[in-house]
Amino acid sequence: MTIDKKFIDLFLNVASKAALASSYLVGKKDKIAADKAAVDSMRIELNKINMCGEIVIGEGELDEAPMLYIGEKLGKLNGPHFDIAVDPLEGTNFAANNQPGALSVIAVAEKNNLFNAPETYMDKISSNITEDGVLDLDYSIKKNIQNLADYKNKRPENLTICVLDRPRHQKIIDNLKNLKVNLKLISDGDISGALLVTNKEYNVDLFLGIGGGPEGVLAASALDAFNCNFQGRFLFETEDDKKRAFKMGIKDLDKKYELNEIVSGDSIFCATGVTSGDLVSGIVVDKNEFISETLITHKASGLKKVIKLKQKISSK
Ligand code: FBP
Repeated sequence: MTIDKKFIDLFLNVASKAALASSYLVGKKDKIAADKAAVDSMRIELNKINMCGEIVIGEGELDEAPMLYIGEKLGKLNGPHFDIAVDPLEGTNFAANNQPGALSVIAVAEKNNLFNAPETYMDKISSNITEDGVLDLDYSIKKNIQNLADYKNKRPENLTICVLDRPRHQKIIDNLKNLKVNLKLISDGDISGALLVTNKEYNVDLFLGIGGGPEGVLAASALDAFNCNFQGRFLFETEDDKKRAFKMGIKDLDKKYELNEIVSGDSIFCATGVTSGDLVSGIVVDKNEFISETLITHKASGLKKVIKLKQKISSK
């Protein structure tokens, strides 16, 4: 089974409208308001679609509504059954501070094909190398870099590695520095970071480090369509985290997940720029119209490109 192509435009519309809603709050120093605008817009637009959608990756649990919560049913409940992962505003600081890289992101797969992930951290690695045994979350940094250099026939000095700039990554960053690779340190936004391996023009050979689990699942959906690689391991720190994970059906808390265990079958991924960044440009509003750029993938049809759209701003 595949997802009918008609849904591509519908989910593109969901992401672009969420980005527009958030764009009005760019630079207002209020990340909660910018996030809420995107959430509210996504809920309204998703509920217009003829589908039986269920949020499997959202912004919290039922008691944290009005966020799009895990288990929330969306759509007109009269079409195909979809698993939906959302990050209505990825890079809330970017939007609040009017910095590059804020996105509205949605990924959709057929029912039971998208990992139902708890909101915890995840240790991640992504690259465009799909051969087994070259790179692995469990290898040392040194082994991954050496293997990557050998595989690409490059010197470590000519490799670029993307990492979230966080104190928890100090050891990784020190190791990478000693190996003389080029670092690309990002202050936020690791969905983008993980996707920078998808195209040579971004000049990133490897993404690694700990970031949000939901962001990992969303990035994996796009990486699958780009035929890239991803591995992730959830990190459950508190007893509460562990209990929630068990409740969600996760039995082995230390399991390393391969890409096809996170997303399988057909999927659609849309990431619209709120502010301009590495992947896409941000929203531009011009009188009663707006221009958006969306990175969109549809696995079954092989679609993977940035779509620029000019749309009328509707009052509803
Ligand atoms: P928000 O959009 O929710 O602010 O997340 C931004 C982000 O940088 C993600 O891209 C990343 O996965 C996560 O935060 C990392 O979390 P932390 O800031 O706690 O290190």
